[in-house]
Amino acid sequence: MIAERISDITGGLSFLELPGFQSSFDTYVKLEGLNPAGSIKVKPARELIDSAEAAGRIGPDTRLIESTSGNLGIALATICAARGYPLTLVTDPNANARTVKYIRALGADLVVVDRRDGSGGFLRSRIEYILERLMEDPRLLWLNQYSNPANSAAHAKHTGPEILDEFGAPDWLFVGTGTSGTLMGLLAHLRARQAPTAVVAVDTKGSITFGGPPGRRFIPGLGASRRPEIYRDDGSFDKVLIDEADTVRLCRAVARRYGLLLGGSSGTVLAAVERYAGRIASGSRVLAISPDMGDGYLDSIYDDHWVREHFGSAALAALDRPVTAAV
Ligand SMILES: Cc1ncc(COP(=O)(O)O)c(C=O)c1O
Repeated sequence: MIAERISDITGGLSFLELPGFQSSFDTYVKLEGLNPAGSIKVKPARELIDSAEAAGRIGPDTRLIESTSGNLGIALATICAARGYPLTLVTDPNANARTVKYIRALGADLVVVDRRDGSGGFLRSRIEYILERLMEDPRLLWLNQYSNPANSAAHAKHTGPEILDEFGAPDWLFVGTGTSGTLMGLLAHLRARQAPTAVVAVDTKGSITFGGPPGRRFIPGLGASRRPEIYRDDGSFDKVLIDEADTVRLCRAVARRYGLLLGGSSGTVLAAVERYAGRIASGSRVLAISPDMGDGYLDSIYDDHWVREHFGSAALAALDRPVTAAV
C-alpha cells in the first residue's frame, strides 16, 4: 500500500493470539497500537475531521479545539499537521510529559488549565475554558469526542468491518470504555450484521459510566467522571469493572510471557477476560481490543516505584504471579 496521508495507513488489521492465556478457549488481541499516532484514536480523529469537512464546517480561518490529554490529542495533532489545520488541545497538569512533548512536536497548541472544578478534578474546568473561548472566537470549532456521533461512527465504519472481515465473528468480544465510541460503534456494526458475538464492556473501578460511584483512577485511557453523551446501555452487552491493580498485573505478566508491551486499557480488558473465564464455553474464540502499546506507560505501569506508590507493596508483590490458565 502506498498511502497519500499518514492517517490512511492502518495497522489495525493485526490480530495476535495469546497461546495458553486461558486453557479452555483461544484468546486474541487486536493490536490498535500499530496504527499511525500509536493508537485506535486515529480512526475517530480522522472521522471527526472528515465529517466536519463534509459538513462545510472547516473554512480557511477555522481553528479546531478539543479537550484531551491523551491518545486523541496525539491523533488529532497528527492529522491536523498533515492537513494544515491549526489545532488547540486543552489539557490539565495531570497530562503525561511524553504526550505533551509528542503533541507539541507535531505543532499543535497546548493549553494547560490548572483551575480545579467543583469535584476536585479538571474536566469541567477544561470544558468551561473551551466554552469561554467559543463565545469569544467564532472561528473555533469544538470537535467534542464525548458527544460527536462521528466518534462511534468511525468504529462502525472501520473497526467493526476489520474484525468481521479479517478475523470473523468472535464468540466473545471485550471492549474498553472511555468515551464509549469504540463500544457503541462496534455494537452497531455487529448488530447490523447479526454477528452472534457476546460483547463485554470493560471499565475501570471509579469510573461512573456504568453507574458506579466515582473514585480515584491513575491510569489514563478508560473511565469517565461524567457519563459520555454517546453512551447508551440498551441491555445487549455485559458490563464489568476492573481494579487498576489488576490492570497493572495483567500488563506486566503479558509483557514477560508474550514479549508484548501493552498499554493500560489492554491490561484492563485482558483482566476482564480472565474474570469471565468460567463463563466462556470451551473452544470459544475470544477477542480483546488493545487500544495502544505500552511505551507511554514505562514510567507508570511498568515502573516498580510508581506501582508501590499508587497501589502499595502488596500489589507490587502480586506482580510476580504469572498469567496462569484458569482452572
Ligand atoms: C488507551 C485507550 N484506552 C481506551 C480507549 C477507549 O476508547 P473509547 O474512547 O472509544 O471508549 C482509548 C481510545 O480510543 C484509548 O486510547
